[in-house]
Amino acid sequence: MFKIAVAGTGYVGLVAGVCFAEIGHQVTCVDIDENKVNLMKSGISPIYETGLEELMQKNYAAGRLDYTTDYREAYRDADAIFIGVGTPEQPDGSANLSYIATVVRQIAETIEKDCLVVVKSTVPVGTNDKVEQFIQDFLVNDVKVEVASNPEFLAQGSAVKDTLEAARIIIGTESKWAEELLMKIYEPFNLPIVSVNRRSAEMIKYASNDFLALKISYMNDIANLCELVGADIQDVAQGMSFDERIGSKFLNAGIGYGGSCFPKDTKALEYLAKQHGYALRTIKAAIDVNDDQKTMLYKKASKRLITFNGLKVAVLGLTFKPGTDDLREAPSLENVPLLLEQGADIYAYDPVGADNFAKVYPEGKNGRGTITYVDNVEAALDNANVCFIFTEWGEIKAVAPETYKKCMRTPLVFDGRNIYAIEAMKEAGVEYHSIGREAVQ
Ligand code: UGA
Repeated sequence: MFKIAVAGTGYVGLVAGVCFAEIGHQVTCVDIDENKVNLMKSGISPIYETGLEELMQKNYAAGRLDYTTDYREAYRDADAIFIGVGTPEQPDGSANLSYIATVVRQIAETIEKDCLVVVKSTVPVGTNDKVEQFIQDFLVNDVKVEVASNPEFLAQGSAVKDTLEAARIIIGTESKWAEELLMKIYEPFNLPIVSVNRRSAEMIKYASNDFLALKISYMNDIANLCELVGADIQDVAQGMSFDERIGSKFLNAGIGYGGSCFPKDTKALEYLAKQHGYALRTIKAAIDVNDDQKTMLYKKASKRLITFNGLKVAVLGLTFKPGTDDLREAPSLENVPLLLEQGADIYAYDPVGADNFAKVYPEGKNGRGTITYVDNVEAALDNANVCFIFTEWGEIKAVAPETYKKCMRTPLVFDGRNIYAIEAMKEAGVEYHSIGREAVQ
């Protein structure tokens, strides 16, 4: 078993650290935020992630997992240091690597024994070469240090499961020593390991995410065409899915992909290509389709209603997907301001995302409109003129079609996630508009 330090306790760092402890390694997670460190020491997770707190508490109690703000203590004698700090998108689409640079310098000035530095954060191809050079430039002690790439493939909401049961572990190394050490660290997971060079590992991460984004934009494009020609996107997707070369996952048309990964990683790869004088046309198209798709539902509703001024608008779901309180690039953030600008009175329900949303749009008057956060679906629908569904949370999917008819002033629903069967809405007498399917008038 190895002594591991993890830099950054966001989704990537914290989940990796906790899972390394779970398989028996000695782990210290480092974060600059003292409050966050104290919170984690008391067994509370700073992020909402199924099963994470239980594993934090179990491994902390077992003495395999600790948290600190003192990076020197954690890095000094670590066998490996995993970096999981953020690489936010900059206005031009490139990744901001300043957090990584800070951590790397701290590592270079601190380590006292041979150490493998493993970059888990998503970084543009070639970054790990620069990181290694940077470490060598600032290295204080006479120790061996190498950099490996080990991209993360977890999805928010299922992060622990995705890590412990990952489809594959990608390791990108430039020496036998680094490859063997990383292999040994991952051995107890008993998962398929793909070992490649550093640049290929970095590229696998972008190519995988961008392929999934492309798949979603493709289905959204086809869905928009389905509406025009009278086909049904869900039937089309089902028919396509039987071909194993296509597969059955990530074929759901909707209101565009959001989150902290696909929007950022598509733009970053397009930018990288541009830097090398190459136009990545497929990804550019995926980005364009997604930008349009996010407000597709609003545009449909605007045609139907002419104005939202003074209307009571129910909004069901605010997060970019179910199972997370994350709002980054969520379609709700594009649509709610448009509704508010028009003078809508919004009643919003989300099982966990309302507090974060209220930081951007506080309860009460917002421009011409108002927003009120309610704690159940019925309260949002009560006497509403129109309802928007932005996130397919389980409790929203469980709402019976009759509930819209019963609770709303006029049962008019715009569903960005295709959660209802067309027939069921027809039977319930609900006017229902979704994506890539027949409208129920
Ligand atoms: C994504 C990838 O799925 C992970 O494999 C990857 O590790 C992660 O990015 C990352 O790079 O860190 P995540 O952003 O958490 O994970 O969420 P997804 O479940 O992939 O969903 C992304 C967006 O696509 C959501 O807005 C979702 O609603 C949308 N989506 C997904 C669709 O519109 N249709 C689909 O069929 C699937």
